[in-house]
Amino acid sequence: MLASSAPTATTSLPSLHPLTYNAIPAPSLNPSCLSFSSSSSSSSSSSSSSYSYLSPLSFGLHSKTHDRINPKLKGLRVRCSKSEPLKVMISGAPASGKGTQCELIVQKFGLVHISTGDLLRDEVSSGTEIGNKAKEFMNAGKLVPDEIVTTMVTARLSRQDAKEKGWLLDGYPRSFAQAQALEELSIRPDIYIVLDVPDEILIDRCVGRRLDPETGKIYHVKNFPPDSDEIKARLVTRADDTEEKVKSRLEVYKKNAAAISSTYTSITNKIDGNRSKEIIFEDIDSLLSQVQKDKTAKSVKPVLQTESRLNLASSSRDKWRGIPTRLNNIPHSREIRNYFYDDVLQATQRAVNDGRTRLKVEINIPELNPEMDVYRIGTLMELVRVIALSFADDGKRVKVCVQGSMGEGALAGMPLQLAGTRKILEFMDWGDYGAMGTFIKIGSIGAKEVDEQDDMFILVAPQNAVGNCIIDDLKAMTDAAGNRPVILINPRLKDLPGSSGIMQTMGRDKRLEYAASFESCYFFRLLYYAGTQYPIMGAIRMTYPSVYELHKRVDEPSGKEKYIPLSTFTARPTIDEINDAFLGKPRNKDKKASGIWGFLSGVF
Ligand code: AP5
Repeated sequence: MLASSAPTATTSLPSLHPLTYNAIPAPSLNPSCLSFSSSSSSSSSSSSSSYSYLSPLSFGLHSKTHDRINPKLKGLRVRCSKSEPLKVMISGAPASGKGTQCELIVQKFGLVHISTGDLLRDEVSSGTEIGNKAKEFMNAGKLVPDEIVTTMVTARLSRQDAKEKGWLLDGYPRSFAQAQALEELSIRPDIYIVLDVPDEILIDRCVGRRLDPETGKIYHVKNFPPDSDEIKARLVTRADDTEEKVKSRLEVYKKNAAAISSTYTSITNKIDGNRSKEIIFEDIDSLLSQVQKDKTAKSVKPVLQTESRLNLASSSRDKWRGIPTRLNNIPHSREIRNYFYDDVLQATQRAVNDGRTRLKVEINIPELNPEMDVYRIGTLMELVRVIALSFADDGKRVKVCVQGSMGEGALAGMPLQLAGTRKILEFMDWGDYGAMGTFIKIGSIGAKEVDEQDDMFILVAPQNAVGNCIIDDLKAMTDAAGNRPVILINPRLKDLPGSSGIMQTMGRDKRLEYAASFESCYFFRLLYYAGTQYPIMGAIRMTYPSVYELHKRVDEPSGKEKYIPLSTFTARPTIDEINDAFLGKPRNKDKKASGIWGFLSGVF
């Protein structure tokens, strides 16, 4: 089947062409006739040029689920560097077992253990100025003032051993201000472990705790008594380990815990601390080993990630294989689908790895263009699966969300394009590795879908329906997601005429502003003559962090076709800029948008 009235291709899929950036003679074309092939639009700026690589992290698992390795994209240039050392934070109520687990973590991972409690106790026993100030707070079971502790911690973290061996921060941050102080210095752990122990157990653990002043080892009169009488004789009790003080420390902990963990939501791992210390450590060990493995893998960076934009542009030209041809042939071949899945995936990963959190992917090849009768929901689902599984392979918990029925009563309903989507997602093959239900979850769009353990959210084609606006739900969801990535796949957030006025809830300006807050990390659009879907005149492509590339499709005498790069733009080009590029005209910066773009640009 063809996407339009295009002649059926009788030849097999042609080989793909390496991209060249040579100037080409201006083609003859009616400048007023080009249009984007779909009506959604939004403005966004971007940066350097395109390139292709396969993430070393992303293609390991789930190979039976889909073909995520495209053999044509092999030959990735990578840079191997020494992996960064582990950075770990451990938190939990008083006596939850932080110190005990830290002993085991240090033995296994060799990290520098920085315990604010120990640092403060040292200051107290040495009788320093800091110690004298801290003593009264500690003895009362209160927090020592932030500025004292923060100065102490940042000084310790900046020492060479911590930089080289990695660190294990125990007992800091203990207030939101302390967490923010680290954020401001860009000091962020790889993982935030919270030991969870019921209150009644904590009191017994504190009251029975004994410390060996010689070795620093932690004992407990019942749970972990010392091996010899000699050790037993020298054990001491901490001044703040009375029942009354423990209760006060616990109260302080509870008051601050939620605010602190909000800073580390995406890297938080809660562990049941009411088990034997060996079993608890098994969990911690496997978590840290995984983080370390991921860090090592990530240190094999695509060389392009760290290059300047200019270098990106030039070094990638000979790597990228160019836009695939025969895009009007439907169904798209597996190779073409994989090309686009890879292209989108790599751009998305780069953006997420760069810390971008509000992202959108817009791709409208015929099978993904709901304006066309060849639109296939299956292709959209496959694309979503590739992206979700790839992030899951990296250890992220991904929630894939589809909007549910919107509105009430007679106005209830959902966009036709999304009907059945959630069911399809639930029944899809998510691989043999148990990703579904653990690393991949399916949900709908809304704030209540945002769980603490979710690391990121992929929203499938969120869109307004006639009379119903998705933006309020989206906004509530992104607010709840905080600084976790939210990726919109083919959003359609423009206003639709509504009889109910529901579309007006948030105010148009606010809606547009919100919709525009999502940064494009991937954009691909085919260009046609206005009002037609055949022939394809060219294409615009942008992959994060890259410029918008304008390509012209040309027929070759052999009956094949190819795409030739015409121009690049730092922001999405207007239709006038596209027409000028096709005509070989110099850029006219003052020119106003006109024609169909003039209409589209007013619509999100
Ligand atoms: P700090 O020393 O950090 O005390 P804490 O957070 O109250 O924690 P603990 O050291 O009491 O317990 P833990 O979780 O390490 O448990 P442990 O392994 O020892 O801080 C003390 C004070 O300093 C604070 O109150 C504050 O005043 C000040 N301070 C510190 N940091 C600060 C900051 N950032 N800002 C401001 N002020 C700050 O285990 C406890 C007992 O249980 C032991 O006897 C152990 O043997 C036993 N045990 C451990 N694991 C198990 C297990 N799995 N099963 C059975 N028993 C176990």
